[in-house]
Amino acid sequence: MTVIEENPLLEGLQLRRTPDPCAFVIFGASGDLTQRKLLPALYSLAYRRLLPEKFAVVGAARTQMSDDAFRTAMEAAVKKHARDPFREDVWEPLAEGIRYISTDFGDKAFEHRLHDLAWQLDEERGTAGNRVYYFAVPPNAIATLVREVGERRMAEGWVRLVIEKPFGRDLDSARELTKLLQEHFTEEEIFRIDHYLGKETVQNVLALRFANGIFEPIWNRQFIDHVQITVAETLGIERRAGYYEHAGAIRDIFQNHLLQLVALTAMEPPIDFTAEQVRNEKVKALRSLHTPGPKSVVRGQYGRGFVEGEEVPGYREEVGVDPSSMTDTYVAAKLFVDNWRWADTPFYVRMGKRLARRETTIAIHFKRAPHPPFEESATEGLRPNVLVIHVQPDEGVSLAIGAKVPGAGMTIRTVHMDFLYGGAFRTGLPEAYERLILDAMLGDQTLFTRTDEVEEQWSLVDAVVSAWRRDKPTFPNYAAGTWGPASANELIERDGRAWRSH
Ligand code: BG6
Repeated sequence: MTVIEENPLLEGLQLRRTPDPCAFVIFGASGDLTQRKLLPALYSLAYRRLLPEKFAVVGAARTQMSDDAFRTAMEAAVKKHARDPFREDVWEPLAEGIRYISTDFGDKAFEHRLHDLAWQLDEERGTAGNRVYYFAVPPNAIATLVREVGERRMAEGWVRLVIEKPFGRDLDSARELTKLLQEHFTEEEIFRIDHYLGKETVQNVLALRFANGIFEPIWNRQFIDHVQITVAETLGIERRAGYYEHAGAIRDIFQNHLLQLVALTAMEPPIDFTAEQVRNEKVKALRSLHTPGPKSVVRGQYGRGFVEGEEVPGYREEVGVDPSSMTDTYVAAKLFVDNWRWADTPFYVRMGKRLARRETTIAIHFKRAPHPPFEESATEGLRPNVLVIHVQPDEGVSLAIGAKVPGAGMTIRTVHMDFLYGGAFRTGLPEAYERLILDAMLGDQTLFTRTDEVEEQWSLVDAVVSAWRRDKPTFPNYAAGTWGPASANELIERDGRAWRSH
């Protein structure tokens, strides 16, 4: 008998093929994302030996810092945020290839320095002219950098650009950015990141729907009454007022993470799991989306309140926020997917900051059984079946079904059949950024958003935002630590339904 030794280092992400040697250049390297997500993800990939052997990281940002100071800051970030324990033998080889350039972006001297450094790394570290450029900078800084990188691209080696969301701030600006990118790069070289697609539980929507025979036949208007998608956060805006004041909830989460969850739930089965086929089906679903009218999208902004027992300031009191700001921190909407599968089946979606609980769920509410043969009193405690995909936390899937209460007589109550990731699989869930960084290095675009998808997402958002110009709600309209404004309840209650209780 062969005994296969378990390798704890390989848990979580399976080795497919190792990426080619490359240099990973981060624009905006002194920001939060680099510390909280990017470096910890690179460390975890190194921990599992998934990085190329010949590898280097170049951080570029405005802050003045030496290579050593940057390495020290990144070591602290890895110790604080990585999901894996800190090990010198993993960190040291990675740290040896880390460099830093301070720059104001957009000056010619920076272009030269970056170019020279990359050349030097090709010599010293064997990175072979291959580059991943990660744009962790605000949308207005991207254009200059794209031009610089594009004009200086070298004949040898591949280039991949990873661009953080939001991609533009409306349809026109997204198109302009795409046009600029396409002057220098092909679509195969552009990786628009939406980190929700890197989450295991989001990918599991596809596994659940398309790897099981029992769900697809009932995944339609005949059996489903409606769908509810919730992206609730307890966090406020942290230190990001500068960005958030311009984005609001509608551009920060609705336009991207939330609409991607809708697309994955509503899309038709792809013919295979290649980037093109998966994205072809998603874009069709996004193209079919519409909101039935201005009353179908409501917005909110949090006021002072209590989150998890602690008093927190209202949005307008946050550092850097205009005290009369009209920025939305909450959005709820009723959407329809206009096709044969979903006609007349509402998708109620809601998302917001400073809500009562952190929860991302997709809940499929099925229709009632057509003719229960029981007395009415027997089924008083019974709700229609609901399949809930728990994206986070408590990752898993749960199905609400009716079951007989033990004892004499016939009383039926709702119970839950649960699948929990933690219980079923021994491995911890990888961070979304690990998977996406690895895929970008491998050139796999399946979990990245294509131009036409982004444009469909903006079309819907632009329509909502222009409808909003006509009516001004009174903000703040929900207290931190609650489930959002009263208008969100009215939105669903008008249809004789209610938000899923928690
Ligand atoms: C980011 C948003 O894209 O997603 C943040 O910019 C938000 O505002 C975050 O907090 C939520 O991500 P997650 O993975 O914690 O659900």
